[in-house]
Amino acid sequence: MEIAAEIIREGGLVAFPTETVYGLGANALNAEAIKKIYEAKGRPLDNPVIVHVAGMEMLESVAVATRRARVLMGRFWPGPLTLVLKKSKALPKATTAGLDTVAVRMPRNRVALDLIASSGVPIAAPSANISGRPSPTSAQHVLQDLSGKIDAILDGGTASIGVESTVLDLTSRVPTILRPGGLTAEELYKVIGRIRLTPPKTKGKPRSPGMKYRHYAPRARMILVEGSEENLRRKIQALALRLKGKIGILASKENAPYYRAQDMEILGSRKNLSEVARNLFGALRRLDARSDVIIAEGFEDVGIGRAVMNRLRKAASKRIEA
Ligand code: TXA
Ligand code: MG
Repeated sequence: MEIAAEIIREGGLVAFPTETVYGLGANALNAEAIKKIYEAKGRPLDNPVIVHVAGMEMLESVAVATRRARVLMGRFWPGPLTLVLKKSKALPKATTAGLDTVAVRMPRNRVALDLIASSGVPIAAPSANISGRPSPTSAQHVLQDLSGKIDAILDGGTASIGVESTVLDLTSRVPTILRPGGLTAEELYKVIGRIRLTPPKTKGKPRSPGMKYRHYAPRARMILVEGSEENLRRKIQALALRLKGKIGILASKENAPYYRAQDMEILGSRKNLSEVARNLFGALRRLDARSDVIIAEGFEDVGIGRAVMNRLRKAASKRIEA
C-alpha cells in the first residue's frame, strides 16, 4: 500500500480493486499522470475518466456538490454511484477531457479507500482494461490487458458487484442515468423521485462522451439472443447447430442443461441478476479465449439486469429476438 501510494503521488499508474471493477488509477490533479492512463488503455482522448474520492473534503476539492448531490452521497456512498457535477477550478481539464463537469464517486472497497487516503490525492480511474475490451473483475484480467504498461497492481480478489458504477448526471434539469450500473434505477428513484433512465437523443455531442464508442467487445463474434426462457433455449440450440467454428454459450443456470453438448459458461440463475452481473465479465473473457462465436442469453431488463443487458448489447455484434 505504501509503495502504491507513493507511485500515485509521483505521477505513476496503479491498478486497484473496487467493488464494481478494477480501476487504472492516477493522481487526478496531475495532468501528466492522466495522460499516461489514456496511453496505457488506448483510450480516446475525448472520453473523460471518473475521479475517486475517500471523503467529503476531497470531494469538494474536485467538484461542486449541490443539495441533491449531498442527499445521494449520504444515502449511497461509499458505493457504485458516480455523480456528474460541476468541476472545481483546481481540477485540471485533462482529467475531464476538457468538460466543465466531472464524474465522481467514493468506492466501497477497503483497498481502494486505503489507496486514496494513503496517497492523499483524489484518484482518476477508468476501468483497467484496454479500451473497448471487457472490463476487468480480477487482477489477472488487468494483467491480461495491461501487463508491462502500468507500474503496479493491488490484488484485492474478485470484484463483488462485477459491473461498473451507475453514472447519474446531476447537471441536467432532470437527473439522468448516463450508464446503468451497480446501483439500480429503482433504488435511485426511491430517493430522488423523477429520473430519466436514458439520456435524451441529441444530434450533436453525446451527453456521456464514452457512449459513442464500442465497449466490452470480445475478440470472438458475439450474438445476443433476447426472449423468454424457453424461446431462448430453442433458438440458441438451433443456432449452435447451424453456425460454423467453435461455439461458446453464455448461459443461465436454468437453460444450461439443454446446452449439454456445447461449450459454455454459466452466468447464474435468471432469478438472481446480481449473480449474473458478478460473473459476466469473467465468463465473457474465459469463453472468448476458446470460441470463434459466442452466443449469449439475454436477461430481464430490470434492476441490475439493466446494467447486464446494457453490457451484453454493447458487446454483441448482432442481436436476435427469439
Ligand atoms: O465502476 C466504475 O465506475 C469503474 C471503477 C473503476 O470505478 N470505472 C469506470 O470508468 O467504469 P470508465 O472510464 O470505464 O467509465 C466512465 C464513464 C464513461 O462512460 C465516461 O464517458 C463517463 O463515465 N464520464 C466521465 N466523466 C464524465 C462527465 N464529466 N460527463 C459525462 N460522463 C462522464
Ligand atoms: Mg470502462
